Amino acid sequence: MKIAIGCDHGGIALKDDLAAVIKEMGHEVDDQGCYSTESVNYPEFAKVVCSQVINGNCDRGILICGTGIGMSMVANRFEGIRAALCHELFTAKMSREHNDANVLCLGARVVGPGLAEEIVRTWLATDFAGGRHLQRINMF
Ligand code: RB5
Repeated sequence: MKIAIGCDHGGIALKDDLAAVIKEMGHEVDDQGCYSTESVNYPEFAKVVCSQVINGNCDRGILICGTGIGMSMVANRFEGIRAALCHELFTAKMSREHNDANVLCLGARVVGPGLAEEIVRTWLATDFAGGRHLQRINMF
């Protein structure tokens, strides 16, 4: 898959860690920034990553800010985006199986890099279950 990834200044170190993990898993990374620790506005990066998913340039997106909250709020305003803010493995798995989440949001000030890497591995490896869950996601 091709994965769009974006962050603000609070998430840049984790973004770089996760980009390496995504590549190691055999996926392509579309890094949409930011690229330094200079203070930036997270909505700008959320918009670019969501656009890459909506227009089909990327299969899924990953957004990282300090808490993940701002990124998830912005991402879920876009039609066609189902963004999940996940800080443990169970919701990461279920966001894919039941909700077909196409954007994963993470808070770099909430989880350490080891857990974040496992969340990303789980999220990328889990398929949507379809069936009754497809009917439900088609309702919004
Ligand atoms: C930036 O300081 C911080 O507000 C941002 O990374 C994020 O946590 C917002 O939701």
